[in-house]
Amino acid sequence: MSNIRVLDESVAAKIAAGEVIERPAGVLKELLENAVDAGATHINIDIDGAGKTLIRVNDNGAGMDKEDLELSVARHSTSKIKNFEDLDSLNTFGFRGEALYSVAAVSKLAISSCVKGGGGNKITVEGGKLISVSPAPGIAGTTVEMRDIFYNTPARLKFLKSDAYERALLLKTVEESALANLNVSYTVRTDGKQVYNLIEPDVLKRAEQILGKEVAGTMFEIKDMAYGFHAFLTPLNKLTSVRDLQFCFINKRPLSSKTLQQAVYKAYQGRPREKHPAFIIYMTMPPSDFDVNIHPQKREVKFLRENAVFSFIMNTVGRKLSSSAVPEELLQTPPPAVLTISGGKTESSYALKEPPEIFSGGPLKQDYGVKDFEEPASYDVPSEITDRNFEKPKSSVPQDKPVWWQGPYRFLGAVHKTFLVFETESGLTLLDQHAARERVLYEKYMREIDKRDLGVQPLMFPVQADMPASNVENLMLWAPWLKTAGFEISQFSARTVLVSTVPNIFRFKEDNLREFIISLGAIAGDPLKSSDTLKKKTVAMLACKKSIKAKEDISAAEAEALMSDLAACEDGMHCPHGRPVMVSISALELAKKLGR
Ligand SMILES: Nc1ncnc2c1ncn2[C@@H]1O[C@H](COP(=O)(O)OP(=O)(O)OP(=O)(O)O)[C@@H](O)[C@H]1O
Ligand SMILES: [Mg+2]
Repeated sequence: MSNIRVLDESVAAKIAAGEVIERPAGVLKELLENAVDAGATHINIDIDGAGKTLIRVNDNGAGMDKEDLELSVARHSTSKIKNFEDLDSLNTFGFRGEALYSVAAVSKLAISSCVKGGGGNKITVEGGKLISVSPAPGIAGTTVEMRDIFYNTPARLKFLKSDAYERALLLKTVEESALANLNVSYTVRTDGKQVYNLIEPDVLKRAEQILGKEVAGTMFEIKDMAYGFHAFLTPLNKLTSVRDLQFCFINKRPLSSKTLQQAVYKAYQGRPREKHPAFIIYMTMPPSDFDVNIHPQKREVKFLRENAVFSFIMNTVGRKLSSSAVPEELLQTPPPAVLTISGGKTESSYALKEPPEIFSGGPLKQDYGVKDFEEPASYDVPSEITDRNFEKPKSSVPQDKPVWWQGPYRFLGAVHKTFLVFETESGLTLLDQHAARERVLYEKYMREIDKRDLGVQPLMFPVQADMPASNVENLMLWAPWLKTAGFEISQFSARTVLVSTVPNIFRFKEDNLREFIISLGAIAGDPLKSSDTLKKKTVAMLACKKSIKAKEDISAAEAEALMSDLAACEDGMHCPHGRPVMVSISALELAKKLGR
C-alpha cells in the first residue's frame, strides 16, 4: 500500500493558509491591501478582541459583482493577473490570489460587496466552505468581516500572544498602510474605541499623528528623480533612541530592505552611538527591478541592483545631511586639552565640549555622597613613576577587592571632564567617569528595587510622551511593573502616555525622561519573554543611560570614592551596556613606548 496520500482540499487549504496568515495582523494586512487595490479612498477598520474575535474592514472601493464575490475566496482567484507575462508588470500589491482563500480557510468570513450602480451581495464562508449567498444593501464598496480566527486550527490559536501584543501588531499594520497610502483616509476602532482618525493627506501631518510631533516635527525632506526617491528623515541632532520609527515603501507597499537601511545608517556616519534616524522613505521602480516574493508575508525586498541602490541612498541622504546646518558640537570631536594638574583638580586650557551622548545633561550636580568622604588630599605630580616615590592615597580601600583592583589609586586629574586619570603602583589607570557612574547607579537601582526600598519622586508636571499607538499598547502592559520600579505611567490617549513619578535615584531632564519612556515603548514591542529580571535589567539600563550625568569638575576625593564604589559593584569592569569602564597601562609599557 502506498504511504503517500493526496491531502483533501480542506486540509491543504489550512496548511497553505498558515503560510500567509500567521496572526490577526496578517489578515488585516491582506484586507487593507485589497481595499487599496480596489481604489478605496476611505477605509474603516474595526478590531475586537485583538483581532481574535473580529476584524472588519470596510472600504469605498470598486466592489465586486456577485460572480466575482463568489470567486474571490477560491484559490488562485485574482483579478490582478491574467497571464504569465503580467507577473513582471504587475503594479498592484498582490498576485497570488491566495489571501482571501487563506483567510477563509481559517476563520468565519462574511463579505458584502457592491459595484457602483449594481446590487449588493453577501457571502458567508466557514473554514473555507461557502455557506450562503444573499442580497445585501447596495452601498458601493466592500466590507470584509473576519471572525474567530483559527477556530478550526486551535494549535495556531495557541501560538498567538497576549491581546495587547497582537493589537500592537494590528495597529502597526494600519500605521504602515496609512503612511503608504496618503490619499486614503483611515479610521480605526479597537473594541469600539477610536484609536486613529487619519484624514490628513499631507505626509508630515499624518506622520505627526503616527510618530508623534517630537519626531515628525523635525523631519527634513529629500526628493530625487532617481527611483522616485522621496524621503523624510530626522536631522543629525534630532535622532531618536529607538530603531523602529523607520518606514520604507516601494511602489506604496511597506517593505523592508537591509540594503536600504544600511545605506541610510552609512549616511548618518558620525551619529552618536545608540541614536537612530527616524525616516519615511518612498521609492518607485519597475516591478522587474526588485523582488518581494522571497517571503510568504511579502516583507523583505531584494533589489536587482543592490549596489546601485545602496550608493544612491547613501550619497543622496549623506549630501543632504552634510549640507544642512547641524550644530558643530555634534560633528566635531573635541580637540585635545592641555592639562595642568594641581591638587587633584583638573583645568583644561579651554572649555571643552563633551561627546554628544553624555553632554545632554545640564550642569546639574549629582549628589554622589561627597560629604561621606575625606577632604581631597594634595599630591605632587611624580617626576618619575617608580615604586619608591608612589605616595599611597588615604582614600577608602574596599574590603573584598575585585580581581581587577590595582589600588590604591591616586587621582591625578581628568581629561575632557570625561576620563579620570589615576596613578597606581603598577602604572596608570584611566576611568571613564560617566560609564563608571552608570555602573554604580545601575547596581544601586537594581538593589533598591529588589529590597523594595525605592524612593520615588512625584513630578510637579507629568511628562507627556507621544508614540505610535502600537507602542502605547505595549508600554501599558508594563505599567504595573514600572510602578514598582518607580515610574508611574498612565495612558492619556491612544498615542500618549503621562509619566507622573520617577525614582529618586535618577535625575532626568524632561526630554531625556520622554526619550526613556519612548524607548521603552519600542523595546516592549519585542516579543520579550519578560521575566522580572529581564524587565528590571532593561529598565535600569535605559534609565541609567538617559539620566543626567554630572558635568562638573570632580575632586580627588570624589574620584577615589567612585573607584571604591566601583570596586563594590558586582561587575565594576563594565558599564551596564557592557562597554569597558577603565583601561590600565603599566609603567613598564609606558617605559617601553618611550624607549627607556
Ligand atoms: N476589498 C475588495 N474590493 C474589491 N475587490 C476585492 C476586494 N478584496 C478582494 N477583491 C477581489 O478578490 C480577488 C482576490 O483577493 P485576494 O486578496 O485573495 O488575492 P489578490 O489580492 O489578487 O492577491 P494576493 O493573494 O497577493 O493578495 C482580488 O483579486 C480582487 O479582485
Ligand atoms: Mg490581496
